[in-house]
Amino acid sequence: MSIFDHWHPVLKSKDLNSKPVPIFLNGKQIVLFRDKEGLTAALDDTCPHRRMALSHGKVEDGRITCIYHGMSFDRNGKGQSPGTEDCKISATKWDCVESYNTIWIKSTDSFAAFPYFDVEDFRLMDSCHYIIHAPLELVLDNFTEVEHTPEVHAFLGYDSTRMKEVVVESETNEYNVRIKNTGPQKKLPLLFRYVLGLNKEDLFVDDWTTYFSPVYTVYDQYWIDSKSNTPRDTRLRIYVFFNPISDNKVQLFVFTYMKYPLFAHMGLNLLIKLAIKQILKIEILRDKKILEKVLDKNPNIAGMKLTRFDRSLGPNRKRIERIYRKTMPSESNQS
Ligand code: FES
Ligand SMILES: [Fe+2]
Repeated sequence: MSIFDHWHPVLKSKDLNSKPVPIFLNGKQIVLFRDKEGLTAALDDTCPHRRMALSHGKVEDGRITCIYHGMSFDRNGKGQSPGTEDCKISATKWDCVESYNTIWIKSTDSFAAFPYFDVEDFRLMDSCHYIIHAPLELVLDNFTEVEHTPEVHAFLGYDSTRMKEVVVESETNEYNVRIKNTGPQKKLPLLFRYVLGLNKEDLFVDDWTTYFSPVYTVYDQYWIDSKSNTPRDTRLRIYVFFNPISDNKVQLFVFTYMKYPLFAHMGLNLLIKLAIKQILKIEILRDKKILEKVLDKNPNIAGMKLTRFDRSLGPNRKRIERIYRKTMPSESNQS
């Protein structure tokens, strides 16, 4: 097993049409194209003849054709040469599926399970992707602690003056790491609170679980009425996939779902959708900006002065090594 053996989301479906598209994953370049039936295909981008990037070529009759000497390959990688009839040539094929309006790939060597989206009764608000120039571990660190939210976030997170009240609970098992944070919400604009049926005294709950095949975190975010201690109807469920593009670059694929029964019948859906999309974009771009400013991006946590909010950092690293990269953990101090 290696990183390539897990299903990664690599391109939005709408971005793959008649032309081949190169994508990048963990230092590898892979070309995506659609065959005659419109089915997606993924091959190593390196032409097996003399290593031209197949993605510079074009798709003809459902086959990708190399711009250099005209060899063409079908969706299984089977090649044909225009000038040498008995030429036996093939390009390395990847498993490729289209799901959630996104194209996903993995190597053909594994039976890794496809990530499960538990979103019944939720509406899709947005799906988008971002590049962050930082190693996988640092990006995941940022997205699995809330201590940065008072300083860095604009909307989603905790009140900077009441961080001591935030309760952090954690639960880990062999395969995942769960953290639940509950505390006083940051100040939210009145209109936002009104539309979503929230009160300014509400407690914000950010309850997430990180999985490692591939590396992704599912965030369950909701608000609790601090007087009755009951959850509000509004609830966000966000899936964030952390694809390492190289040692120092991560691509996030973000799928945002939401439940808001209060206004489901009042034609405010579009407005809410646009607002949530914008809020998520603001928060992620703020995360990106702060992460790229970190001076020492060495992913090793030895020597860092960690707090009670950082309890996922060690367990995350251990599972990245054991499940995602499939090597033994090297740090004995990472629990
Ligand atoms: S390098 Fe692709 S056909 Fe020659
Ligand atoms: Fe953040």
